[in-house]
Amino acid sequence: MQTQVGIIGAGPAGLMLSHLLHLQGIESIILETKSQAQVESRIRAGVLEQGTVDLLKSTGIGERMMKEGFVHEGIVIQFNGKRHRLNFKELTGGKEIMVYSQHEVVKDLLEARLNAGGKVLFEVKDVSLHQIETNSPVIRFMHEGELQELHCDFIAGCDGFHGPSRQAIPVTIRQEKQEIYPFGWLGILAKTPPANNELIYATHERGFALLSTRTPEIQRYYLQVDPNDSISDWSDERIWEELQLRVETNDGWKLEEGPIIQKSIVSMRSFVCETMQYGRLFLAGDAAHIVPPTGAKGLNLAIGDVQVLAEGLKQFYRNASDRLLGDYSEICLKRIWKAQRFSKLMTELLHRNKEHSPFEYSIQLADLDYITSSRAAAESLAENYVGLPVQFPK
Ligand code: FAD
Ligand code: DHB
Repeated sequence: MQTQVGIIGAGPAGLMLSHLLHLQGIESIILETKSQAQVESRIRAGVLEQGTVDLLKSTGIGERMMKEGFVHEGIVIQFNGKRHRLNFKELTGGKEIMVYSQHEVVKDLLEARLNAGGKVLFEVKDVSLHQIETNSPVIRFMHEGELQELHCDFIAGCDGFHGPSRQAIPVTIRQEKQEIYPFGWLGILAKTPPANNELIYATHERGFALLSTRTPEIQRYYLQVDPNDSISDWSDERIWEELQLRVETNDGWKLEEGPIIQKSIVSMRSFVCETMQYGRLFLAGDAAHIVPPTGAKGLNLAIGDVQVLAEGLKQFYRNASDRLLGDYSEICLKRIWKAQRFSKLMTELLHRNKEHSPFEYSIQLADLDYITSSRAAAESLAENYVGLPVQFPK
C-alpha cells in the first residue's frame, strides 16, 4: 500500500489533516485502531475557538455545526456564591466561541472524507513506524488478519497521548516536560434543560464545578474530584448533591436535575514533547501535548497543529520547499506553550487545592476578584479563551 502522507489516528487531528491535504490535492491514508462507531461516539471536548470554527466553515465542514452548535459570546465565573459575566465579544473586539461536541466534529470530518473517497482503515492493530529518518518511511500494521505495510513520503502521528508515534522519536532527541495536577474531572451527560445560556465556571470551597451544554435536552456538567476516585464512588445522588452545593448562588438559584446518561473520570496533566518532528515523522495534537481541560484548549490545539502541517506539506509538494516543514515544531510550540500557560492558569485559578494554605486560597479569591473587576485582566483572559492565532512566519 502506498500514499503521500500516512496518518496514524482518526481523531480530530488526523481527520482534519487528511481533509486539508485532500483540498490541496495531496493523498493520505488514515490508520485507526478503533471502529468507526467507537470513534464517532467518544465523548470529549465541547468548546471550539473562533479560529477552529472559521477553519471548519471555510473548508466546507461547518454546515451542521452552524445549525446545531451554540454560539456563546461569553462565560460566567462564579465564586463566593456570586456570578460574574465575561463578555468575550465585547472584550475581544467581536470574537465568540462555539459549543459543539468533539464527536460531532469527528462525524462531520469523517463523513466529508468518506464522501470524497478518502481511505480510512479502522480496527488496525500492532501499528509500528519504520525508516522515519529516510525519505520513504513505512508504517507496519495488522488489518483484517494480515500484516500490511503503508509506504509513504511522510508520517503524521495523530494517535493521541498513548499512541506509538511519539515513542518512535529517539529518547535522546525528544524532551518531555510535564506537570500532574492533584485534580480529576468527573464529567456527566444529563437529560435536563440548559442551566444557563452560557458556561458557568464555579469555584467553591468544596471544589470546582463547570456547567456546559450539548443540546437543548442534554447538558454536560463537570465536578472536580480526587483523581484516584473511581466512578463507583460517585452515585448519581452524590453527583447531584455535590453539583448543587458548588453551583448554588447567594440568591438561592438551584440547578435542575435529571437522569444521568453517561459519567466518567479523567485525570489532569500538562505535557509537552519537544521536538514534534523527527526525520519524516510529524506529531500533531495529543500525541505531542496534553493540557488540563479547564481552558478548553485540547481540541483547538490539535486543529492548529494540523493547519501548520498541511501548509508545510502543501509548500513541499507544490513548491518543492521544505522550509515551513523544517520549522513545524517551532511554529506550533510557540502557540502550544501559550495555551499551556493559559490552561495551567485557569486550572489553578478555579480549582480548590487542598494542599494550599488559607493564605494561598485568599490570594486565589483575590485573583478571581481581579479578573472579574479589572478590564485589563478580563481582556487577557478573553483573548486567550477565544484562542490565539496560528502564526505563520512572514
Ligand atoms: P485523539 O482525539 O486522542 O485521537 C487519536 C486517535 O488515534 C484516536 O482515535 C485513537 O483511537 C487513535 N489511536 C491511538 N493509538 C493508535 C494506534 N496505535 N494506531 C492507530 N490509531 C491509534 N479537551 C477539551 O478542550 N475539553 C474537554 O472537556 C476535554 N475532555 C477530554 C476528555 C477525555 C477523556 C480526553 C481523553 C480528552 C479530553 N480533551 C478535552 C482533550 C481533547 O479531547 C483532545 O485534545 C483531542 O481529542 C485531541 O485530538 P487528537 O486527534 O490529537 O487525539
Ligand atoms: C467543556 C469542556 C471544557 O474543558 C471546558 O473548559 C468547557 C466546556 C465541554 O465539554 O463542554
